[in-house]
Amino acid sequence: MKRIVILFSGRGTNLENIAKKLAGRVEITAAITNNPAADGIERAKRLGIPVVIIDHREYATREAFDAKLVETIEAYAPDLVVLAGFMRILTPVFTSRIKNAINIHPSLLPLFRGAKAIEQSFASDMKVAGVTVHWVSEELDGGTIIDQACFHREDESFEEFEAKIHALEYALYPKVIAALLQERYPQRA
Ligand code: GRF
Repeated sequence: MKRIVILFSGRGTNLENIAKKLAGRVEITAAITNNPAADGIERAKRLGIPVVIIDHREYATREAFDAKLVETIEAYAPDLVVLAGFMRILTPVFTSRIKNAINIHPSLLPLFRGAKAIEQSFASDMKVAGVTVHWVSEELDGGTIIDQACFHREDESFEEFEAKIHALEYALYPKVIAALLQERYPQRA
């Protein structure tokens, strides 16, 4: 079975969704978080996924944190590294070593990069909104796009809008992960 490692920082709802949708098809060998207070830790443990905590505050620099992260990931030798709400800016220490990493971002990239994507796309006058799965590169939310999904806006409240974004994430991300592992998308060079 193909093996993935998931990186997360917060609630871990994408992690849980991936674990449930791909159960029996993909092995999640570890879930790594930088945040010892992440709700996703309990979620992952309930699903029987080994959790590794690497608290970024214990590292003097981003590079030192990334070096530990890379070393930890490499020990699992995953086929794919899946970022799911991992809220750390990565340095070339990570991006030059880990080439098989993907991220999900809650906007139609290249629009609305960064941590406020849902708020910014909600506030915009765009008539469609959506989510993007992309390769992780040196540029924050700037790597090659693998796939996207979108919906037409219908005067939703912010809460309804956010729920639609998350529903798209839950539908798209497991599908892309499974397809990448079966080499049904162009692989990263
Ligand atoms: C998702 O909206 C993801 O796109 C963004 O962070 C959120 C993570 O949510 N990068 P969760 O931790 O998976 O619940």
